[in-house]
Amino acid sequence: MDDLTVFSDPRALAEGAAALIAALAGEAVSERGRFTVALAGGNTPRPVYERLAARPHEDRVAWDRVEVFFGDERCVPPDDARSNYRLAQEALLDRVPLPPDNVHRIRGEEDPAAAARDYEQELRRCFGPASIPVFDLICLGMGDNGHTASLFPATPVLHESRRWAAPVYVQELAAWRVTLTAPVLNAAREVVFLVTGANKADMLRRVRTGPYTPDELPAQLIEPASGRVRWLVDAAAAGREDDGRPSRRRDDGDGRMKWSRDGQ
Ligand code: 6PG
Repeated sequence: MDDLTVFSDPRALAEGAAALIAALAGEAVSERGRFTVALAGGNTPRPVYERLAARPHEDRVAWDRVEVFFGDERCVPPDDARSNYRLAQEALLDRVPLPPDNVHRIRGEEDPAAAARDYEQELRRCFGPASIPVFDLICLGMGDNGHTASLFPATPVLHESRRWAAPVYVQELAAWRVTLTAPVLNAAREVVFLVTGANKADMLRRVRTGPYTPDELPAQLIEPASGRVRWLVDAAAAGREDDGRPSRRRDDGDGRMKWSRDGQ
């Protein structure tokens, strides 16, 4: 099931996303005794994590039952400004009573292949050695080129079917990354995409309603076998005009948009 919720602005999206994550955490802990979540990197999630770390949401989460992983990581040290771990640490992890052992970062300071292997071992320790890890929630962003996590267009990792984590060299960034692979992302119970900004509007429409071309638009790979995908986007990314009405773009000929009002 794939649904889209359009929020008026990034602040409203942060509030809605934090409330959703806290609710999913509560459900997971009551049903399975813990909440396993993989956090997204980039800029969009910061206000979401900051809201989650603040009242009322912070009080609602049993942080000692939460296991935090990462959807991907830049191959930089954990204190580097580009690090997804550092983003999460500043916006969330240092603000909530999460036991340090419950944070499972990708060791960006290591050789990429070794970091991917170590991360996969960590996943096996936490989820069990045999079956593919089934996260309660995986948060994802989407780049304006259609990538998600570090599944970038035309990279071999898009076709990885065996490994749970893999190194990827991103040509356009001239940088190494480590990412969860599509099979793990698609095994999740819940996937939430967080997308804001007018610069994402065209790509959002192509990914959601355009032809299925995952090598070009890797975010299209995310189709969990039994899990649920939700898109939490702001009006700018949804291509709405200021008054909140759907804009009718004709460049793809149909202008079809599935809308739901904020939070309904
Ligand atoms: C990363 C993310 C990446 C991100 C998108 C969107 O490490 O950068 O995992 O997939 O979610 O690039 O980034 P913004 O939120 O900064 O637009």
